[in-house]
Parts: sequence; C-alpha cells; structure tokens
Amino acid sequence: MQQKITAAITAVGASLPEFRLTNKILETMVDTSDEWIKSRTGVEERRILKGEGLGTSDMGAPAVLELCKKRGIDPLEIDLLICCTVTPDMFFPATANIICHKIGAKNAFGFDLGAACSGFLFGLTTGTAFIESGRYKKVVVVGADKMSSIVDYSDRTTCILFGDAAGAVLLEPNEEGLGLQDSLLKSDGSGAKYLHMKAGGSARPSSMETIAAKEHYIYQEGQSVFKFAVVGMADAAYELMQRNNLTGDDISWLVPHQANKRIIDATAKRMGLSPEKVMLNIHRYGNTTSGTIPLCLWDWERQLKKGDNLVLAAFGGGFTWGATYVKWAYDTN
Ligand code: UT7
Repeated sequence: MQQKITAAITAVGASLPEFRLTNKILETMVDTSDEWIKSRTGVEERRILKGEGLGTSDMGAPAVLELCKKRGIDPLEIDLLICCTVTPDMFFPATANIICHKIGAKNAFGFDLGAACSGFLFGLTTGTAFIESGRYKKVVVVGADKMSSIVDYSDRTTCILFGDAAGAVLLEPNEEGLGLQDSLLKSDGSGAKYLHMKAGGSARPSSMETIAAKEHYIYQEGQSVFKFAVVGMADAAYELMQRNNLTGDDISWLVPHQANKRIIDATAKRMGLSPEKVMLNIHRYGNTTSGTIPLCLWDWERQLKKGDNLVLAAFGGGFTWGATYVKWAYDTN
C-alpha cells in the first residue's frame, strides 16, 4: 500500500534587521521602564528595519535565500511561495510576488495570507495542502512583518511590544510520515474591535483626518486581547494534544507565538510542559507577528531531532488562533 504523502519542513531561514531597539532606548521615548516591560511582557529588545524604501520583502527575500542555500536548491525550483504578513510592502502586488522577483523564483506563483499573529500557522496549513495533494513539490511559507511601519512610537502600550523580522520554511513531500500531522485553526471576527488598524483599508481609506488621528497605527485593547489569548492559545494546543493522544511527555517542544511571556507560560502549563521544552526568544525580538514561529524554529534548528514532536501555537488579531502538530523531519549536523 502506498504511504500517504505528508508535508515536511526541510529547511528554515530567517532575516533580522541589525538595529536593536532596547528597553533603555524606549525609556527615552515614552513613559515606561525596562522593569515594567520585562515583567509584563518578557521583551528586552526588538529589531527595527531602518532604511528608506525598505519593506517586508527586504527581510522575506534573504530569509528564503538562506533556506535555499541550506537545502542546496535553486530558487527556480520553488513552485509556490506564500507570504504571511499584515505589513505588505504595498496593498498590491502581493509581497510574495515581490519576494519571488527579488530572489529569482521565476517558476513560482505566490500570494499573501493575512491572519495577523496566527498567519504563519494558517500559511503552513495552506502550504501543506498543496504538498499533500501531490500537485507541488517545493512550497515556501514565509512569515514576515515590518511592524515598525504600523507602530505609534508615542503609544507606550503598543510600541514596547513589536519588532521586525522574517522567517521562512520549505515544505517538501515526505514518505516516512514526518511533517505536519494535524492542525486546529480558528477565527472569530467579533474580536476585530480589540485589535486592528482603523484606517488605510477600503472601509476607511487614508486621509488627512485619519493620519492626524493616528488611525494608520495599531490599535489594541491589551487587557481584552490578553484574556482571549491566554485561553485561546492554551485551549487550541490542549485540544490538539487530546485528539492526537499526546501527553506532555510525548511533546519535545512547544513553539509558541511570542506576544507575551505570561501567555506562553499559561499555555505550557495547560499542556503539562516544563519550561525547558518551551522555545522562548521574545526577550530578543519582541512580537514580530507572522515572524515569531519560524524565527523560533530557526533559532532552535540545531537542537531539533528527526522525529521530535512539536506543537506550534498562536493567537492574534482577528481574532485568529490555533495549534499545529509537526513531526520534525531532519537532524542538523
Ligand atoms: O500578538 C497579538 C496579540 N496580542 C497580545 O497577545 C497582547 C495581549 N496583551 C498583553 O500582552 C498585555 O495586555 C500588555 C502587555 C499589552 C499590557 O499588559 P497588562 O498587564 O495588561 O497592562 P495593562 O494594560 O492592564 O496596564 C497596567 C498599567 C496601566 O496603568 P494604570 O491604569 O494601572 O495606572 C497602564 O497605563 O500599566 C500602564 N502601562 C504602562 N506602564 C509602563 C501600559 N503600558 C505601559 C508601559 N510602561 N509601556
């Protein structure tokens, strides 16, 4: 009997801007303190993409080139590139197209996917379907956001949270049953009111008034989002474990979206995981929205072993949330 084709992650790449916006620097910009930021969020510094005319694709493109190099493939071999982002270079064309152009992926088609902080999980599940169908052999999923382009650096409640980065994974068919096993994804538009950007879309195009009212920046009711996130992310991860008969002992790593260390701790606790099994890099990069999960995989790649069970979990604007169960497919030498 023929083994079902699964979609395995076979390479990881990332790109981080050089400039480090530390809590100390933020103390000089808004009424905040290193102590408040660290204790309430876990963030110590974030990277910011500086430079006239640089956008999300300028981080996405090097991330994809890195994974091509690691895997030893030419960008011409990529069939499909999905760019998960809420900060596209421009409304259109899609940032995926721009990345493909920048890296010379002339045989790929591409599109953007917007699911805020859960974007990478939604993209990974979408890319997996294209591999499982047997139609495509090399699908790249990029999670990239230049959050500094929509952050109001005079608003202390949001500017301390976000950073810029890109991460990317390559998906390829696998016949050993490795790769994405299951995914539980959810969205609920009634949560939109708590986390959104008021202007710049078709419902409220940018104007002098919207700019003056700072409506082109992130609007977040932090406490409300926190309450939903802490329950949503933990519930999704727990339900995914249950339906796959996994206990905490079976799981090698939790790969959580990095929005707030307290949300991550609550999810790990619900899953019965000790802190050593939790990937945490929020202190170094802050919340990079679609970038957090692939950035974790990139940071921990050398510690991951073939067959390891990973649970990826996220919660974000939309609301969108979910959890994905992945069997890691390779050892890194
Ligand atoms: O990834 C997308 C999804 N987003 C999330 O998951 C974010 C979820 N929310 C959170 O992580 C937290 O709600 C925040 C980190 C945004 C805020 O933490 P909090 O513990 O919920 O703080 P709070 O909003 O309840 O504010 C507590 C106090 C307030 O002062 P008063 O009213 O008690 O006097 C705020 O004005 O802290 C004040 N505050 C600050 N103080 C110093 C808010 N921001 C700051 C700040 N520095 N940067």
